[in-house]
Amino acid sequence: MSAEDNSQKGQRVLWASRMGFIFAAAGSAVGLGNIWKFPYITGVNGGGAFVLVYLACILAIGVPILLSEFRLGQATGTDPISAFRVLEGKKTRWSIVGYMGVLAAFVIMSFYSVVAGWCLDFVVRSAQGAWAAGEAGTAFGDLTGNSGRQIFLHLIFIAGLVIVVARGVREGIEKASDVLMPVLLLLLVGMLLYATQLKGFGRGVEFLFAADFSKISPTAIVSALGHAFFTLSLGMGAMITYSSYLPEDANLVSSSVWIVFMDTAIALVAGLVIFPIAFTFDLEPAAGPGLIFSTLPTAFAQLPGGTLLSTLFFLLLSFAAFTSAISLVEVVVASAVNNLGWQRKKATSLVCLGIFLAGIPVVYSGTFFDLMDRFSSEYLLPLGGLLIALYVGWGMDADKRDATVASLPAWMQKGWLWTLRIVTPALVGFVFLNQIFEFV
Ligand code: TRP
Repeated sequence: MSAEDNSQKGQRVLWASRMGFIFAAAGSAVGLGNIWKFPYITGVNGGGAFVLVYLACILAIGVPILLSEFRLGQATGTDPISAFRVLEGKKTRWSIVGYMGVLAAFVIMSFYSVVAGWCLDFVVRSAQGAWAAGEAGTAFGDLTGNSGRQIFLHLIFIAGLVIVVARGVREGIEKASDVLMPVLLLLLVGMLLYATQLKGFGRGVEFLFAADFSKISPTAIVSALGHAFFTLSLGMGAMITYSSYLPEDANLVSSSVWIVFMDTAIALVAGLVIFPIAFTFDLEPAAGPGLIFSTLPTAFAQLPGGTLLSTLFFLLLSFAAFTSAISLVEVVVASAVNNLGWQRKKATSLVCLGIFLAGIPVVYSGTFFDLMDRFSSEYLLPLGGLLIALYVGWGMDADKRDATVASLPAWMQKGWLWTLRIVTPALVGFVFLNQIFEFV
């Protein structure tokens, strides 16, 4: 890329350090997807075999697309809509990927922020000693029966987002992620130690890792694939946006390895904490979206210092959700600032208002919740990822593609290109065909 291509790096604030970028991108990846969603869909889909398919999707589809998004962002230095225009000219159809990303951001945020509100509710309940008072089993039902409270908490979460995102990447986003991620990790490891002491630990491990492929249905495969996109924040340009703030010489491969490793490890640890608890206290692993909200408080109720630990845990989970939500909002804000010429503050406020409104039906209807959840992970993100793979693999001009491939270390260039060309489209395409047949 020459410096002239209307790359906007010159005028933009970049990440303060490479670690800042890794933490921010990992902050985007690690969120409710790891601690709330991964255990819940693993439970619904029967455990081990699902986990194996999910891990395969992370490696075969997630990693190559993550690298593609990183490179597209780094090379163009702009939002996902403009990125394709920088490379292909103003009229390019590829910028549809960016528009779909904007849609996906709204769809995801509509339920993500509601679940984050649940976490905030559990911060308050924990601090009030609800578990010690024997309310661990009923708390989630109380909450989901109270729409007003859910809307209020969803609003609080969004208000926090407006404040941080309006301040811009470096001031707001990077500072927040630097501290909070490591603390969350420590707390999870502490809980894992506790889980190993439970009598249900063995069964929990078995549930998570013993793969019984007779239990795996086509829907499980679709949901494993969708979750690979969701958990790594792929398929809608979040990683394009974050890497657009990277200097040209930053090493994408090592950053990706770290991010994928952290994201996967945190999900697996969350599973290793939650399923042993479920088996020890006779809770239902297939409970659905309420899984962590029924299992964890039950365990905290048994623990010395449980009130404090629980408060801290749900607080950190809310922060993890926050750093992920920031990346979702940032995609839309960056796109609006660059393409509509809006001020950052105005863009942030309007986008967040839209998200707030989109969350209201989600609070009132479990069906709508499910619909938003599945429409984003199982349709929009895989489709976005497929288009990104097709673009880098086949759509780009040969000389641009050569330059893109050359940005990676020599040993992985061929493998990466052919994975994007064949493996990713074949796997995602297969899953889509399945979706369509199921639908018909
Ligand atoms: N990856 C985040 C999580 O696991 C959610 C998220 C943030 C996301 N940004 C995204 C999902 C972009 C898809 C696309 O909680």
